[in-house]
Amino acid sequence: MRLYLFAISLLLFTSCGKDDKDEASLFPKLPDYFPSPVYPLNENPITQDGFVLGKDLFNDPLLSSDNSVACSNCHVKAVAFTDPQHALSLGVNERSGIRNAPPIVNMAFMKEFMWDGGVVHLDFVPPNAIENPLEMDEKMAHVVAKLNRHSSYPGRFKKVFPTMDTITSPLLLKALAQFQLMLVSQASKYDKVRQGKSEFTATEARGYETYKQKCASCHTEPLFSNQQFFNNGLDTQFADEGRARITESALDLGKFKVPSLRNVVITAPYMHDGRFKDLNAVLEHYNNGVKYSATLAAQLQSGAKPGIALSVSEKADLIAFLSTLTDYELISDPRF
Ligand code: HEC
Ligand code: HEC
Repeated sequence: MRLYLFAISLLLFTSCGKDDKDEASLFPKLPDYFPSPVYPLNENPITQDGFVLGKDLFNDPLLSSDNSVACSNCHVKAVAFTDPQHALSLGVNERSGIRNAPPIVNMAFMKEFMWDGGVVHLDFVPPNAIENPLEMDEKMAHVVAKLNRHSSYPGRFKKVFPTMDTITSPLLLKALAQFQLMLVSQASKYDKVRQGKSEFTATEARGYETYKQKCASCHTEPLFSNQQFFNNGLDTQFADEGRARITESALDLGKFKVPSLRNVVITAPYMHDGRFKDLNAVLEHYNNGVKYSATLAAQLQSGAKPGIALSVSEKADLIAFLSTLTDYELISDPRF
């Protein structure tokens, strides 16, 4: 009897598992050391048509007030969907924003979005961009009206969401999410080494050791972010209050979300305001530029002076290791 019950539950269990997989069929198979997606894929199953629709919307300046700025203006594929040109992003009428555009990869695994974690669901990110006067300066309702008047979008939405007769904001957001969720970075040299398909050079291997000792507590594998908020010593006065803008707590002044280091070699400039133009400048900041303030991360206060001491050779090794995090398959994938 016990065995019989066991067999039934096993059967139920395995068939459930299979359904889940079928539903999210287009979402890539993940390496075993990856976490499960945070995004509820079962609430927005990715289909081929939905993904392509999302991609076209992502690249369409129709989403902005003067039809001049698409998501892809600030999130450029060749550089892991970040902005290679501007420290602070540039919106309609060349209006300058207040922060550096982050790369859009591995969004499926993120709990909180934006440098200050002010958005807690991927579907709620685009309204921020679309309605921000410094970005796309448009109203969601107006974008939806433009889409409903368009020659091909209504038919394409109907195909992806057959139960809906008109395009609505939630459908626009679901389609955009389907595209962004597919941008999974998991095929860098680092991944191939972890999967036993490649080997680090001696320099890269030394860099990996240094990274594990000095950086991994915040930039944690395999996403290379622990998704927490820290002050890494950039300033003593905070023009941008960071996490404190959301929590309104003085304990969070100058704290920002730990960015992923995946693809970091190609995503310059760096930090929430794009103040460093290359990785040497970033490493020199940790080595010699960290400024003390009340909210400075404890990890950066353990030595004789604030920061993380790095020798010239450690810096070179670290850069060699960080270079193994570039996912050339992602940025050259014709589907994107
Ligand atoms: C004018 C430039 C610009 C445009 C256009 C733009 N973004 Fe962004 N994006 C940014 C900036 C800057 C941030 C960081 C904002 C912050 O932290 O306050 C960001 C953040 C994001 C994030 C969060 C990433 C993370 O790691 O937390 C996502 C996702 C995103 N944008 C998607 C989109 C989508 C989808 C569109 C189109 C609807 C879009 N963006 C349009 C500049 C832009
Ligand atoms: C205490 C946590 C912490 C530690 C330890 C730490 N970082 Fe960071 N790192 C951060 C935070 C937070 C940011 C974003 C700060 C900002 O923009 O205001 C950041 C930003 C960066 C950036 C910029 C990324 C981008 O996309 O703009 C790089 C590169 C970086 N760190 C590399 C390293 C390296 C290499 C080490 C080890 C030598 C290290 N970090 C150690 C928390 C940390």
